[in-house]
Amino acid sequence: MNQSKKIVLSGMRPTGCLHLGHLVGAINNWVKLQEEYSCFFMVADWHALMSEYENPSNIKNYIFDNVATWIACGIDPDKSVIFVQSGVKEHLYLNMFLSCLTPLGWLERCPTYKEQLREIKDRDIQTYAFLGYPVLQAADILLYRANFVPVGQDQIPHLELTREIARRFNNLYKETFPEPEAFLSKVPKLLGLDGRKMSKSYGNTINFSDSKDEFMAKMQKMFTDPKRIKLADSGHPKECNVFSYISVFLPERTKELQPLCENAKIGCTECKKKLSELLYNKLEPIFVKRQSILKDKKTLKDILEEGKKRASETAGQTLSDAMKAVSLVYE
Ligand code: TRP
Ligand code: SF4
Repeated sequence: MNQSKKIVLSGMRPTGCLHLGHLVGAINNWVKLQEEYSCFFMVADWHALMSEYENPSNIKNYIFDNVATWIACGIDPDKSVIFVQSGVKEHLYLNMFLSCLTPLGWLERCPTYKEQLREIKDRDIQTYAFLGYPVLQAADILLYRANFVPVGQDQIPHLELTREIARRFNNLYKETFPEPEAFLSKVPKLLGLDGRKMSKSYGNTINFSDSKDEFMAKMQKMFTDPKRIKLADSGHPKECNVFSYISVFLPERTKELQPLCENAKIGCTECKKKLSELLYNKLEPIFVKRQSILKDKKTLKDILEEGKKRASETAGQTLSDAMKAVSLVYE
């Protein structure tokens, strides 16, 4: 890997099948970054286990789903390192070092922690590991001496903690870790079928695992301009979720559709039907590629094995530096 390039690391928790929101909110951005940076893309299965420990059997399938979808969307295993967190044992070693120097108060005060304790009611996340969620995330990032971490707004407190933890380590022992910066994704938000944020827990997602029939049926249910009741009413494309999908995936079509909609020359049912076909055609190569990758488990496993090897090289080197800095000797 070209060492003069800056390093990017990001990760996703394998807690479900990926949907169009992940493509627009993260993966498209990753695909661009891999042209310019040394990228590490990680499946954060330990982080998934922190909330799914009572029922962990699906995590494995989601790992395969997620990685197959990344690759189908354009993450290139020859350019980027794709790996599973639990396969690189160094994450837990560094997690321990960082746990020793992270004050409890930093974790208890973390806004994401407080919010999740308030919001997650269907399982018990009052555990020792879950409190330490951001410490493991810091280990993920610092182990690769990442310079940039592409994340959504919700992860900013974790990035801030990572920087504080890195600073504390560097000050206590020896300059070892660069302070990573967040790369905030500025992409347009893709809403779910019902106009709320696209999220598995709202049941409003379009998944890469959907069949064509499921895809079409979902598109037909999509909310449109709430102010347009009769066919003769003029539409307001800016307030229509269908139109926002067109802007995101088929921007070349917006010019022709906007006046048709505003002048009530096209009905919403017809519009959605047309869009569903066009959108499906546009996304079909991704759906098909994802399927074929999932069928060929051997190749997928080889990709992850290779990723593990490459990730372990960097991780091993950093951990050994960290051990020396703390005056513990590695192995
Ligand atoms: N906490 C991240 C999320 O829920 C997932 C994650 C784990 C991560 N480790 C990371 C993201 C390291 C960026 C860098 O989205
Ligand atoms: Fe939305 Fe299309 Fe209906 Fe206009 S015609 S409101 S863009 S669904």
